[in-house]
Amino acid sequence: MSTDAAHPRETAARVTADDVDAAAERLAGVVSTTPVERSVRLSERTGAHVWLKREDLQVVRSYKARGAYNLIAQLDAPARAAGVVTASAGNHAQGVAFACAALGVRGRVHLPRTTPRQQRDRIASIGGDAIEMILDGETYDDVSAAAADEALQGATLVPAFDDPRTIAGQGTVLREAFDQLTALGEPLPDVVVVPVGGGGLLAGSVAWLRERHPHVRVVGVEPAGATSMAAALEAGEPVTLQTIDTFVDGAAVRRVGRHTFDTVAGTEPTMLSVPEGRICSEMLDLYQSDGIIAEPAGALATASLGGVLEVEPGSRVLCILSGGNNDVSRYADVVERALVHEGRKHYFLVEFPQEPGALRRFLDEVLGPDDDITLFEYVKHSHRETGPALVGVELSRAEDLAGLLERMDGAPPRIERIESESPLFRFLL
Ligand SMILES: Cc1ncc(COP(=O)(O)O)c(C=O)c1O
Repeated sequence: MSTDAAHPRETAARVTADDVDAAAERLAGVVSTTPVERSVRLSERTGAHVWLKREDLQVVRSYKARGAYNLIAQLDAPARAAGVVTASAGNHAQGVAFACAALGVRGRVHLPRTTPRQQRDRIASIGGDAIEMILDGETYDDVSAAAADEALQGATLVPAFDDPRTIAGQGTVLREAFDQLTALGEPLPDVVVVPVGGGGLLAGSVAWLRERHPHVRVVGVEPAGATSMAAALEAGEPVTLQTIDTFVDGAAVRRVGRHTFDTVAGTEPTMLSVPEGRICSEMLDLYQSDGIIAEPAGALATASLGGVLEVEPGSRVLCILSGGNNDVSRYADVVERALVHEGRKHYFLVEFPQEPGALRRFLDEVLGPDDDITLFEYVKHSHRETGPALVGVELSRAEDLAGLLERMDGAPPRIERIESESPLFRFLL
């Protein structure tokens, strides 16, 4: 990581609880008041009272409409007439499209050419005539440079996280949840768990809590492959991560913002990171047990309750479930990553002797009764004595691995396990 010279120090205005209250007034009647509900599954798992703030049910299926609307609604008439511009391939673009359509402001959204059609269709249908999409770069960095250039010509840039107005809008999520819990007669949370990408939602949350409920513990959760807020808090300033894992799109951010950092620094949230495979297991639990469609970033907060964040039994925990824009085609990958993370999916290279019965012996002598072959790639070469096969095995229980490896050790074919850290494994996944 680096604290590169491309990001000179500038003074950032610290967002206050009053800014969040003012944002809540602006947003009243414009965005949905999303449900706050008790999670029976997570309460049983942890022994705590776990509540979910369901921003997956927000208009545009994520909290991003709040920050975008709060910013654009504050522009004066000449700025509104000049229009807004943003760069995003994800939820923020949908938030800007929603706000532009609601306020009658023209918006231009720069998208990487790789943006899936489904996402483009959503932006177009939410924004209607108010939104123009420009596909003009290969990467997010390319298109954000294009959007920043355009802002120099007079349009207002709407940052996805690094603007006090965006931050204040995102802070209304937690404020609303506290109001709802109070109205239900519930005690207020001891702990709030917030997903973190560029830090907009976390900054808005701490800005409001630090003044209104300073004793509530705040936990920020990042994906293990992109811990840019933890790195910034440790370094004392935003730093750029050289490599990130982009699986948790939305929260996979190389560098947090100056405004988000300055608002969060000094409030000492507990920062945690959750492995991508754990996030996948949680997405499946949400889907299968609770009937909730969460995208990877949306499942970050609740994923931490599976062995990463320890909570006191009997305590009150509020998790923000931040978004539900998951493309159905991603579930195959999600299932695979979850099985690998749970220790139930393994890959091997097996040198089969090229003789009749070799495969049958492998099945009879090596595989256990509940083990399932999920992948078998074999090419028979007539001029060789053995032929290698790539074999994927799914176990019913992670504990069955020891027995399987023992039987493999004693088996006639040479068998090599493909370790999950190896480059070949990354190719399979
Ligand atoms: C669903 C969802 N959750 C969390 C985040 C992280 O956002 P922030 O930049 O506010 O930390 C994002 C960002 O796009 C998101 O889309």
